[in-house]
Amino acid sequence: MNILSSDIDSMEKRFRINFINSLPGFKSANLIGTVSNSGIANLAVFSSVIHVGANPPLMGLLFRPVSVPRHTYLNIRETGHFTINHISDYLYKRAHQTSARYPDNVSEFDECGLTPEYTELVNAPYVKEAQIKIGLKLVEEKEIHSNATVFLIGQVEEVILPDSIILEDGVIDIEKARTVTISALNSYHKTELIDRLPYAKTDRE
Ligand SMILES: Cc1cc2nc3c(=O)[nH]c(=O)nc-3n(C[C@H](O)[C@H](O)[C@H](O)COP(=O)(O)O)c2cc1C
Repeated sequence: MNILSSDIDSMEKRFRINFINSLPGFKSANLIGTVSNSGIANLAVFSSVIHVGANPPLMGLLFRPVSVPRHTYLNIRETGHFTINHISDYLYKRAHQTSARYPDNVSEFDECGLTPEYTELVNAPYVKEAQIKIGLKLVEEKEIHSNATVFLIGQVEEVILPDSIILEDGVIDIEKARTVTISALNSYHKTELIDRLPYAKTDRE
């Protein structure tokens, strides 16, 4: 089958969303924790978290067009902080439920059976039940003009995780933390490590 841009244009809306969202392959599975200035904790599932750089330690997330109120986005703009919490296999159903459109005076933590947890450093709630938690401060915002989405970049301020899952070379064994991965907008997958390879060099096969 050879699908052209004109075919994509004529796809039914839901079908097209699912189809296009499947194209990037497996995506990271995280819960973004934020709090409003009035103290309402907010939680939302995001599959767009990516690594931006290690020095300084930066991570980014892509927001759907902010033409309608997006609580996560508004809270980050208000407080300058957010948390990224890995979704483990025992969390995925509760995590998925956070994508429902709850009003701004309702906390997804309460509605989805998760516990907010704060530290001194970061003005945003972590998910107590998560294994790997990252606290960040907002450092940059970029509007993507092609479709009015917004890319936010945060600098890592704090990482909370079990020390037993940090390998000797610094890699985090995310399978040990039972972190899952997402495809499309509704599919949650477990993973299986195939291999760990050395840094690729041209003088090696
Ligand atoms: C699997 C999955 C992945 C999602 N990834 C994103 C994402 O990367 N960016 C985004 O803006 N919304 C994403 N969403 C939608 C948000 O979770 C949803 O809009 C949520 O209601 C936002 O909540 P808020 O208004 O409290 O910020 C995703 C939804 C699902 C189900």
